[in-house]
Amino acid sequence: MQETLFPPAPGTVEWVAPGAARLAGFLSLDEQHWLAGRCRDLGGGPVGWYRPTVRGGGRMRVEMLCLGRHWNPLTYRYESTRADRDGAPAPPLPDDLAALACRVAAAAGMTLAPDICILNAYGTDGRMGLHQDKDEQPDTLAAGIPVVSISIGDTARFVLGGLRRRDPLQHLDLRSGDAFVFGGPARLRYHGVTRILPGTAPAPLGMTGRYNLTFRQY
Ligand code: SIN
Ligand code: MN
Repeated sequence: MQETLFPPAPGTVEWVAPGAARLAGFLSLDEQHWLAGRCRDLGGGPVGWYRPTVRGGGRMRVEMLCLGRHWNPLTYRYESTRADRDGAPAPPLPDDLAALACRVAAAAGMTLAPDICILNAYGTDGRMGLHQDKDEQPDTLAAGIPVVSISIGDTARFVLGGLRRRDPLQHLDLRSGDAFVFGGPARLRYHGVTRILPGTAPAPLGMTGRYNLTFRQY
């Protein structure tokens, strides 16, 4: 499914699979502006973005900052300090961002007590390979407690697969201000970002590239 010509109407909850919904236009332009500023401040802060190296030696195609707990890309475990970078403690997850994630989950009829946010910055050549989010606690995964994702800036070509890597992929565009939630039976679906569409960020945001925030419950 490619859908550049017919984007969904803002304000809708569009179920793309059982447990997986896109909430197009969830954030107003003012809220996007506010969130872009929060991302820049956090990512540019003393414990800010860095480009991680993953297990096997490859470098990620995004810059990452984890709030609440650090996801170690060498061990695929969460930890309190970022041992793969500088040993700094993960900055706390701010209450206003956690509250936003709860609002998104509630709009999709789900609940989440977020204590982690992975804030990624994509350049125009950024992407993320197909993967599962499965490093949270077994109880969280078993209960299908959702991941809430919020996108700001340039549009991303997002892919949602199934529970096996080889399952067919759905292609979705995630635009600035869109939220995406995957919980319940969709919690362990493979997903990734194949490309960023440069120049598609709303002009008033004055940005190139994309921020993506994924909120999780450990
Ligand atoms: C992720 O899977 O961690 C990020 C997804 C996205 O950037 O939309
Ligand atoms: Mn993910």
